[in-house]
Amino acid sequence: MKNKTIIFLFISLSILLLGFINEYSISKKDVELKIPKGFPKPNYDFAENPLSPDKFELGRKLFYDPILSKDSSTSCESCHQRVAAFAHIDHALSHGIDGKIGTRNVPALQNMIWRDTYMWDGGVNNLEVQPLNPITSPIEMNETLPNIILKLKASKGYSALFKKIYKDTVINSERILKSLAQFTGLMISANSRYDKYNAGKDTFSIQEKNGLETFRVKCASCHKEPLFTDNSYRNNGILPDTSLNDIGRGKITNQETDNYKFKVPSLRNIEMTFPYMHDGRYKKLKDVLNHYSSKNHNSTVDSEIKKIGELSDIERKDIIAFLLTLTDREFLNDKRFGDPNRK
Ligand code: HEC
Ligand code: HEC
Repeated sequence: MKNKTIIFLFISLSILLLGFINEYSISKKDVELKIPKGFPKPNYDFAENPLSPDKFELGRKLFYDPILSKDSSTSCESCHQRVAAFAHIDHALSHGIDGKIGTRNVPALQNMIWRDTYMWDGGVNNLEVQPLNPITSPIEMNETLPNIILKLKASKGYSALFKKIYKDTVINSERILKSLAQFTGLMISANSRYDKYNAGKDTFSIQEKNGLETFRVKCASCHKEPLFTDNSYRNNGILPDTSLNDIGRGKITNQETDNYKFKVPSLRNIEMTFPYMHDGRYKKLKDVLNHYSSKNHNSTVDSEIKKIGELSDIERKDIIAFLLTLTDREFLNDKRFGDPNRK
């Protein structure tokens, strides 16, 4: 009996250890782009950046590596955490190098190739150049690309990986940025209970069904299915935070009519991406629903918000029950997006 217990413990321990040592390596199948049923044509075209397991692997390694920041303290993942669909769980405003606090909430990274612009204000229009923002921002990673290139050249692991991919020793910005875009571009969330329900492979409770119905009437004009965003910039009525003084889209277009407009965020995996809004002001979905249901809106609020009107207690609970069906555990646990150094 005792011997059996020891053998059992030994086997369990070995399996556990093997799990840690064995890094998940990316196969050809892992980088096939599959457009989920019902999704539109993506805006980002991988034809210009042909997907390959090694390039994706390089992007994954870079995403998790603090080498991209000045003092090797901050990686992309420091702010974009996998458990939170690559948002930053429980942080209202982003935290960068030297503990510096940013001005906006870290958005989830998912279905990026269907977006035409990035950031809460749409200040960036290309997935490939997007990382230049956090890399060079003095309050995020405070680094430069030429410096990163020097550091990567000095690293045996990276030199070997670049050589494996390109058959030469050149390490340049284009190669770095294209690999990162392969990694973030393949983050596709389309396997939530909502998706399975739509495909007839799962059922909804009556509350979830009612929630979906109310959502379609009150919310879907902006949070459009199946991506749960129409890629537009809107004023959803939240009162400006006078300490941050963030005018959103207006800063990019210089049009006064765009002041206080922000990107319509996707609501996929919303259960995991709290706190909410561009400044992370709401901790709970209940708070978000209270906002939409109240009349305490700013004066330039979108007319679609005015149409929502007061939501009953039951309607709010139904909508929240529906929103929870957007959690995509397959995406959140997808090994392809895990830390290559900690498997
Ligand atoms: C210090 C925290 C921080 C770090 C580090 C960071 N990000 Fe971000 N990321 C943010 C914030 C905050 C935003 C939203 C910025 C805005 O709207 O002004 C953002 C936006 C993005 C977006 C656009 C998302 C959208 O919905 O528009 C992408 C893509 C992205 N980051 C990828 C990366 C990559 C790749 C890296 C590493 C090179 C990285 N980020 C490093 C905080 C961070
Ligand atoms: C006029 C378009 C519009 C309508 C209608 C609308 N929203 Fe929004 N929603 C937005 C915008 C814009 C934001 C981001 C605002 C910000 O951060 O300043 C947002 C943010 C959110 C967020 C926070 C997401 C995050 O990642 O932080 C949730 C949750 C949400 N909306 C749910 C709903 C629900 C539920 C309804 C219906 C009751 C609804 N919305 C109706 C435009 C809209």
